[in-house]
Amino acid sequence: MGSLRIELKNVYVTYQDIERPALKKINLHVGENRLVVITGPNGSGKTTLLETCLGLLKPFKGLVKLLGIPTTSRRIYVARRQCSYLPQNFMRSPYESYTVKQVIAMSLLSIKSSLSTLTPDDLCRIRTVVKLLGIENLLSEPIGKLSGGQQQRVFLARALVREPLVLFLDEPFSSIDPESREHITLLINEYTREKNATTLIVSHIINKELSRVADAVVTMSNGELVDVVGNLY
Ligand SMILES: Nc1ncnc2c1ncn2[C@@H]1O[C@H](COP(=O)(O)OP(=O)(O)O)[C@@H](O)[C@H]1O
Ligand SMILES: [Mg+2]
Repeated sequence: MGSLRIELKNVYVTYQDIERPALKKINLHVGENRLVVITGPNGSGKTTLLETCLGLLKPFKGLVKLLGIPTTSRRIYVARRQCSYLPQNFMRSPYESYTVKQVIAMSLLSIKSSLSTLTPDDLCRIRTVVKLLGIENLLSEPIGKLSGGQQQRVFLARALVREPLVLFLDEPFSSIDPESREHITLLINEYTREKNATTLIVSHIINKELSRVADAVVTMSNGELVDVVGNLY
């Protein structure tokens, strides 16, 4: 068995001023070289689960570790630097003037010291990832002017370019046209295997490709983890 990348032990999470917990008695361990799909109806707690794994939300009961570091630790930023998160609400305002290249580059610069600039290796990584996602012609476009599907590809590129150990993708296919979903699913799977990464994909629809490449499918309902099929570690 490889090392555990994500550990949740008897975890409860609640939002401020809301009595009913958004997550209840969650136990989940995920290892390396794993692609895990999290599914379940709207409001079942999928996004809350991802943000709890990242330490953006803290449990009021239980323990969460990311890359071996408790999310309540001061040092959680060390773990988070080795992760990428594609949020569900990624869309930028039409007035946002950063270019596609700047948006992707920021993902690399944010994990370096404040005065660093892009290295030749960084530029090479950016070129590779935009080609894989078919957005190489959009590099100098302002992000806010792109379609939803184009922006979603840009944010996927931004997530992949830093070569994270743990990749959190919240509904990554929501704006992608059905014909491209298979290609992007295979891309995410290849990345996971090549880097020995851990990938959590929240998706309320599980297409054929996704169920073929997933190591495990986790189902949530009313804040609880109600079913696990497959191997999490
Ligand atoms: N910022 C928030 N403040 C209060 N309640 C929230 C917030 N975000 C989510 N919730 C509630 O937590 C529950 C789980 O939501 P969420 O994790 O977004 O579900 P999913 O991603 O599966 O649709 C829902 O009942 C939702 O209303
Ligand atoms: Mg959600």
